Amino acid sequence: MSLDSGAARVDAAAYMKQWAARVEETLDHLVPEDGGEPSEMFRIMRYSLFAGGKRLRPILCVAGAEAVGGAPDLVLPAACALECIHTYSLIHDDLPAMDDDDFRRGNPTSHKVFGEAAAILGGDGLLTLAFELMTGERMADSAGPERTMEGVRTLAEAAGATGMVGGQLLDIRAGGKVSDPPELEEIHRRKTGAMIRASVYMGGLLGGGSPDEMSALARYGEKAGLAFQIVDDILDVEGDAELMGKSTGTDADQEKVTYPALHGLDASKEMARRVTEEAIGALAAFEGGAPALAALARFIVLRRF
Ligand code: IPE
Ligand code: IPE
Ligand code: MG
Ligand code: MG
Ligand code: MG
Repeated sequence: MSLDSGAARVDAAAYMKQWAARVEETLDHLVPEDGGEPSEMFRIMRYSLFAGGKRLRPILCVAGAEAVGGAPDLVLPAACALECIHTYSLIHDDLPAMDDDDFRRGNPTSHKVFGEAAAILGGDGLLTLAFELMTGERMADSAGPERTMEGVRTLAEAAGATGMVGGQLLDIRAGGKVSDPPELEEIHRRKTGAMIRASVYMGGLLGGGSPDEMSALARYGEKAGLAFQIVDDILDVEGDAELMGKSTGTDADQEKVTYPALHGLDASKEMARRVTEEAIGALAAFEGGAPALAALARFIVLRRF
């Protein structure tokens, strides 16, 4: 299978490196060490925020803006808001009450360093900060109040009860007992897919996209988001913990229901490739094929970390 969009190629690694650096720089500016009191709050938030991480959601946001002909720089505050929420979701996901993981982004998890209560609060701080960034002057000045408002709603929906948080609840409640493929797909769509879909959609929205362009981005994001979590499940089985900066094998230890557990490794890989082809297919709506988004979809399915 080629996973080829037929469009001009973008080098995903170079694109990600370039934009990860911009995101890093903007985050450092928006969430500074001396960001306010209590200063420990900023230490806790920054510990997880600057521990590495691929910055995939912010980069998808930038690429979404680029796909609709918007200025990618102008969506950086929204891109950083997405990363704040993603990072909070990781801190909470790793807690003893959830996945009980000790390593994240190559370092001990937040609760290992600061204790559980402070890690929960650090996550809460990042979640709330995301909406401060979204509603700051920079965002409204570049995208206008209406699109900014819709962006805020998109982000809240993706992160909240019907999106990521709801998916995390389904994941916890499933307790190894899911045997129904559509049920597992639903968990993955909510816990991971929703934020990835929102990332690319928000980029298009805040970059000035048309309704048709935004529905193509939503479709791309849905498919790429599902592919992303299928691959995350696969990497938990056969990935390199060092490279990924987090422990592997923990899904099996905790009897999580994952794609490999339910479908086997080979079928899971095939499904991830198929869903990625569908994501790339949605980009046909763009003249020139949105090559950065196509490259990012290929990265999602071929990645080793
Ligand atoms: C891991 O996300 C958590 C999931 C939603 C599967 P990433 O693999 O994007 O983690 P970072 O941001 O690079 O650390
Ligand atoms: C987590 O999925 C999705 C989130 C909302 C954080 P996982 O529990 O599989 O993520 P990892 O493998 O710990 O990064
Ligand atoms: Mg989890
Ligand atoms: Mg986890
Ligand atoms: Mg995982």
